[in-house]
Amino acid sequence: MSLMDIIQKRYSCRSYKEKEIEKDTLDKIFEAARLAPSAKNLQDWRFVVVTEKETKSRVAACTNRPNIFEKAGAIIVACSNMEYVMKCGQAIGPIDVSIALEHISLQAAELGLGTCWIGSFETEKVRELLAIPNNVSIIELMALGYPAEPGKPNTRLAIEEILCFNQWKF
Ligand SMILES: Cc1cc2nc3c(=O)[nH]c(=O)nc-3n(C[C@H](O)[C@H](O)[C@H](O)COP(=O)(O)O)c2cc1C
Repeated sequence: MSLMDIIQKRYSCRSYKEKEIEKDTLDKIFEAARLAPSAKNLQDWRFVVVTEKETKSRVAACTNRPNIFEKAGAIIVACSNMEYVMKCGQAIGPIDVSIALEHISLQAAELGLGTCWIGSFETEKVRELLAIPNNVSIIELMALGYPAEPGKPNTRLAIEEILCFNQWKF
């Protein structure tokens, strides 16, 4: 499968089989995260992978789709420690963590697993449940698991709506 095949295959999976994810599959997926680029190579990402049924169900209850995400084999809680802001004014945490999460999502797609980014969650409840210290930012959650049914491709803007050359022309 080419990279473009995997990119086209990925979609937000909102229907999961209640099936455990094998350790070697998780290892491959997190190796893809480990190899992601990051500002100053600080690798300021930390992942709490919630697989235990009861805890997963409690984390899922903090999201906008509890009944869907609790069935996924894992919920990844992606965190960042640092407040470092680049010269351009952007904080590195959300950017670096997001790159690593997309590596996860694409590697998962290649292996036949589905993912769904979850930005709609109650941060402080997740923090308390997983004993995440106050100085750590919880950037995003991601559901990871075996799809229960084939996914529907989502729509995108046309290329000319998002791309111009040499000068702002939108
Ligand atoms: C940063 C981010 C946050 C998102 N948060 C949620 C969420 O809380 N719940 C959800 O069901 N989908 C969430 N999504 C999935 C988007 O709705 C989805 O990526 C978008 O509709 C495009 O569809 P596709 O991923 O199937 O191509 C999120 C996606 C991103 C990138």
